[in-house]
Amino acid sequence: MEQPDVLVFYVNGRKIEEANADPEWTLLRYLRDKLRLTGTKLGCAEGGCGACTVMVSTYDAQSDAIRHFSMNACLAPLCAMHGLAVTTVEGIGSTRSKLHPVQERLARLHGSQCGFCTPGIIMSMYALLRNHPVPSAQLMEEAFEGNLCRCTGYRPILDGFKTFTKLDIKFLQEFKCPMGENCCKNNAKTAAEENPAVQVEEAFAPYEPSQEPIFPPELQLESAKFTSRSLFFSSDRVKWFRPVTLQALLELRQKYPQSKLVIGNTEIGVEVKFKNLDYPVRIAPTHIPELNCVTKLDDGILFGSSVTLTQMRGALSDLVNTLPESKTRVFRAILEMLRWFAGQQVRNVAAIAGNIITASPISDLNPLFLAAGCVLKVASMEGGTREVKMDGDFFKGYRKTAVKPDEVMVSILVPFTKENEYFDGFKQAHRRDDDISIVNAGMRVVFNEKSNEIEDIHLAFGGMAPVTVLAKKTMANLVGKKWDDALVPEVCQSLQEELQLAPGTPGGMESYRNTLTMSFFFKFYLRVLQSLSDRKLQIVNVSDGLMSRSQSALPVYERGPSKASQYYDLSSVQQNQTDVVGRPIPHLSAKKQATGEAVYIDDIPKFENELYAAFVVSTKAHAELVSVDPSEALKLPGVFDYIDHKDVPGSNSTGHVIKDEEVFATTKVTTQGQVIGLILANDQSTAQRAAKAVKIEYKELTPIITIEQATEANSFMPPKRTLRRGDVEKVLKEAPHVVEGEMRVGGQEHFYLETHACIAIPKGEDGEVELIASTQNPTATQARTGCTFLGCPSEQNRGGFGGKETRSTIISTPLAIAASKHQRPVRSMLDRDEDMVISGTRHPFLGKYKVAYNDDGKLLAVDIDLYSNCGNSLDLSYSVMERAMYHIDNAYYLPASRVTGHLCKTNTPSNTAFRGFGGPQGMMITENWMTEIAAKLGKTTAEIQRANLYQEKQCTPYGQPVINCNLTKCWDEVIEKSDYETRQKDIAQFNADNRWKKRGLALVPVKFGIAFTATFLNQAGALVHVYTDGSVLLTHGGTEMGQGLHTKMVQVASRALGVPIERVHISETSTATVPNTSATAASASSDLNGMAVLRACGAIVERLKPFKERNPDGKWDDWVQAAYMDRVSLSATGFYSTPDVGYDWEKGEGNPFNYFTQGVACSEVEIDCLTGDHTVRRTDIVMDVGNSLNPAIDVGQIEGAFVQGYGMFTLEEQRYSPDGFLLTRGPGAYKIPAFTDIPLEFNVSLLRGASNPKAVHSSKAIGEPPLFLSASVFYAIKEAVKAARSESGLTGSFRFDSPATAEKIRMGCMDQFTEQFPAPAPGTYKPWYVNM
Ligand SMILES: Cc1cc2nc3c(=O)[nH]c(=O)nc-3n(C[C@H](O)[C@H](O)[C@H](O)COP(=O)(O)OP(=O)(O)OC[C@H]3O[C@@H](n4cnc5c(N)ncnc54)[C@H](O)[C@@H]3O)c2cc1C
Ligand code: FES
Ligand code: FES
Repeated sequence: MEQPDVLVFYVNGRKIEEANADPEWTLLRYLRDKLRLTGTKLGCAEGGCGACTVMVSTYDAQSDAIRHFSMNACLAPLCAMHGLAVTTVEGIGSTRSKLHPVQERLARLHGSQCGFCTPGIIMSMYALLRNHPVPSAQLMEEAFEGNLCRCTGYRPILDGFKTFTKLDIKFLQEFKCPMGENCCKNNAKTAAEENPAVQVEEAFAPYEPSQEPIFPPELQLESAKFTSRSLFFSSDRVKWFRPVTLQALLELRQKYPQSKLVIGNTEIGVEVKFKNLDYPVRIAPTHIPELNCVTKLDDGILFGSSVTLTQMRGALSDLVNTLPESKTRVFRAILEMLRWFAGQQVRNVAAIAGNIITASPISDLNPLFLAAGCVLKVASMEGGTREVKMDGDFFKGYRKTAVKPDEVMVSILVPFTKENEYFDGFKQAHRRDDDISIVNAGMRVVFNEKSNEIEDIHLAFGGMAPVTVLAKKTMANLVGKKWDDALVPEVCQSLQEELQLAPGTPGGMESYRNTLTMSFFFKFYLRVLQSLSDRKLQIVNVSDGLMSRSQSALPVYERGPSKASQYYDLSSVQQNQTDVVGRPIPHLSAKKQATGEAVYIDDIPKFENELYAAFVVSTKAHAELVSVDPSEALKLPGVFDYIDHKDVPGSNSTGHVIKDEEVFATTKVTTQGQVIGLILANDQSTAQRAAKAVKIEYKELTPIITIEQATEANSFMPPKRTLRRGDVEKVLKEAPHVVEGEMRVGGQEHFYLETHACIAIPKGEDGEVELIASTQNPTATQARTGCTFLGCPSEQNRGGFGGKETRSTIISTPLAIAASKHQRPVRSMLDRDEDMVISGTRHPFLGKYKVAYNDDGKLLAVDIDLYSNCGNSLDLSYSVMERAMYHIDNAYYLPASRVTGHLCKTNTPSNTAFRGFGGPQGMMITENWMTEIAAKLGKTTAEIQRANLYQEKQCTPYGQPVINCNLTKCWDEVIEKSDYETRQKDIAQFNADNRWKKRGLALVPVKFGIAFTATFLNQAGALVHVYTDGSVLLTHGGTEMGQGLHTKMVQVASRALGVPIERVHISETSTATVPNTSATAASASSDLNGMAVLRACGAIVERLKPFKERNPDGKWDDWVQAAYMDRVSLSATGFYSTPDVGYDWEKGEGNPFNYFTQGVACSEVEIDCLTGDHTVRRTDIVMDVGNSLNPAIDVGQIEGAFVQGYGMFTLEEQRYSPDGFLLTRGPGAYKIPAFTDIPLEFNVSLLRGASNPKAVHSSKAIGEPPLFLSASVFYAIKEAVKAARSESGLTGSFRFDSPATAEKIRMGCMDQFTEQFPAPAPGTYKPWYVNM
């Protein structure tokens, strides 16, 4: 038996020699579990979030250069690290020594909230700087294509890092803030003190590339030792070979015919993790010279098959810059495609062969290679070497190619183009950055010399069949035809016959995908036409003006660097310098987050004897459990036990409001993802493997998935409630106008970067179990563990957005049971896909309304039925519906209203709280009818909105007067700051000039009620200890999720006690210190806990008063000492309950809210009418947050909420199969906004002079309200779609549901292409997915 080699590599300058390198381990696992470097995070395990980004450095002896690149540690095989130097976030700086400038600037400029994404983002930036010490802003934005953040809205990260770019100084000089003279940046002295971004150079340590650690000399001086020797590693299950010659590779392939070649592992890593595929023999052909060549030949360029996409991009860029344009048209198309191919971390390691041989039907490169007629060289021991042309016969079937199983791909020849040959590539995805295609294409046409007659044409499409296809019939028909107006209808007709997708085709979106093939061809037609006319070829039969009006279809997408401004009142000069209330101090954990030192649940070191728990969950939406057999799983080495309902000591029933759930399913499952049992094992991978080996037999029952199905089956949950005011029927009958309509608002996955996680630790002999949980609700976590346990949850929660308010107990309760049963600590952190399947989302809503209005557009009455898809249990669905009902007025006075809420029970995971809690769904439907009224009256929506805004003391539908109403003020300020009137005219002109791009501008106001609608929850507690050294320990009932609550509470305590913030320490939230806490939710945590903190501090100040009076010249420490010596307690609790809130539904009386947070946004978008792509060109927000406790944190909440809401209303679409299977699991299928989705210009101002008498230090709650302002993007898109429709003669209102995905935008812009593909009638086929 061959002896495995020792794996040698460097991590943060330290040499690692691993004698037992396991080929199944990823680098991430090794860093976290073996080296205990937990700064690098696991967010998805599929290369889609960037939380695991590290920098890898390698020495290339040929060019004698060191190359640095970012990489996803979650996909990188450990065995591929031999001879490389890895740098993690811990390797560049720390709070104990010195922060690296990248870490410092991100932390100080408010670039982290929960911080889970932060180390990955830091490392992407760091890798960029190692290659480009002064990068351009565009390079910087590209560096983050593979990183996601769910909290910040990206703006502060980009602003923080712009300080490193070339753009920075120019940008600061040239940028004209829309605040004009009032811009805070003009208030130089004070602004610089408050906002370090203003005075970058003075504020930060400069970046010195020469100070970076050196590349390990051994790897450079003895590089041959690491690169030219073959390697072998093995474990019990898997062998890993790294041959260094082609001959050795072919021999290995012959010896192990079932072996798998691995280069970047970006396909295989995902297959192994998520598709349960086993590859016992893996061969890494990464160090074979023939497979790594980049050679320019007479007819094109030859790339070795292991060349990475980044290397390919570099080589092609060089050629494009040096060769004539006509020769490099294929290269240009490949470069453009690579721009949108995955993120940098993936492109840096993924190889050309990996893309070709995987033969995915949505591969981005294969349509280009096919259209270009690339030629592969392949080799095997038996067959020797041969050439294979990539033509119509190359793809043999789903993921099968003409390359035989025993062959390896050696290289690919990508040809040059000729003068009379044109080439282009197209891609449309759900999201522009880092997303796989919906449809893509490669197109090539060759003309007969000096004519527009087609000599040869190749049209290749991805996403239109199980393989990448050439439209052979269409191609054949076109030879000899002229490139003129007659061509497009002919091609459309022919493509329709050749490629049309049948209803129900896998992937769905059939009409859209069909339409895209034509849109792409039309773009190609126009671009080639333009080139022909540039060559001064005489082309007849092209309609006059086609090119001038269609210019907008030609350009490839370019996005300049984004810019932003934030505007808020600076603290007055009279305010004491040590008083930090109202100052934009950075998040207190920011430095620890930026250095990777912040500890999240799974970063806590393993306890001795600890077990890992993997969840066994239902794969059926509705079924009886016939049998559950864990016997095979229990036989696997390392598996300890299987736990299910039989192990529950008390009641197996659970639930937040009513007990309508089971901890473990007993006889029936009512949703996929329902927890059936737990496998306990020594480690995570064993537990997960075993969980998949548990055999479950189901008897399937018909599931209810959608709101419509629930309505038809009368599947509702009580209570059904109605909010009434005035005589709605009468008004509707007598009103001059009534609009009637429906709108659907999709749900939203929380996608907190840290998934649900918990550790249950048995304590002592009394059955006590300590839970360390990622939760927003320590009290519920404790209560739900059942009466036999004394739960004592601590809080280590990073990112919740409502998703960890109640659903965290699905994880913590089973773990507590397991820990109690075995008296051993038990840990679990859900994988991203598990989290998405198990834990529920924002509720999808359907609204059916009738609205009465007068000739001026004034609202008279509304009658609306709201339906929410609650999933399989009640959870918080009633409160979510209640809030939707309370917010049906949004910001408009409704003289009469009737709002009824229907809670639909379905066989999907129980939906739950999500930032805004039903409010955004309700308000979205309101804004829809406002656009319809405007369309009917021929006015602008803004006119209707402005006319109906609440005025001071007007009453809401539930009878609460709107006091301190600032809506009109915010509205008028936004109109002015956004230059609304001028831009509206510009947009009208733009739309008149451009046929295929349209712009839209929309305003949306928000008025959001602050308080828990469950009155009893409006309470909070705090505990303050002052120690004899003068330090203060503060704890309160709210949990820090990244939203800056702890920072604000420290600011409040610091002012109340009169001590600097450095002396106030926060102890993590725990039910052992502050009991009976309300969940950190409803935006009310600063208000409630802030008041409790004030009261606790007030009690201490009161007790210190006599000592202060006795020693007026003394200091804090003296008074504390004196009080202690006098035996005065220096520990105090504070309690607060909001006065005068609560609504009595029976009587229809009361004030559900303490006050309203208000704001207005104006957004402008541009859409591509042919593809459905869109860009947010600009957003202006004016928000009334009272007197902000911390304007930087509040601006962060506004931007973060806005971008999260933008995702909800545009990109994020949950898709369930008709059988109730969640299709959109993981970042690959479910797209949250990325860095370059944010508005190109993003201006946020806090309303001046709007102090709020109802909350701590006159501030206002801010967590949820701004989320809805992102609806301005949705309605701007709707305006743009409206403009596009008018080109086809379609006027008036039209149905446009949320989210406004690329599909909806494209299909909404009805034209000659879409009309060929009407949506098939519902019920005539089984769709691939259904609308919830
Ligand atoms: C987050 C993410 C985003 C992505 N985005 C995109 C995208 O936008 N567009 C897109 O098209 N793809 C995308 N992909 C898919 C993937 O990155 C590409 O297909 C990539 O090119 C695969 O290369 P690899 O080296 O990582 O392949 P690996 O996973 O290492 O190998 C893939 C396959 O290629 C075979 N193979 C490798 N070398 C040879 C050879 N010499 N001869 C024969 N067979 C060989 C392997 O046996 C294996 O079957 C994405 C993947 C991820 C994880
Ligand atoms: S954890 Fe690696 S990319 Fe998400
Ligand atoms: S700070 Fe980025 S995900 Fe929370």
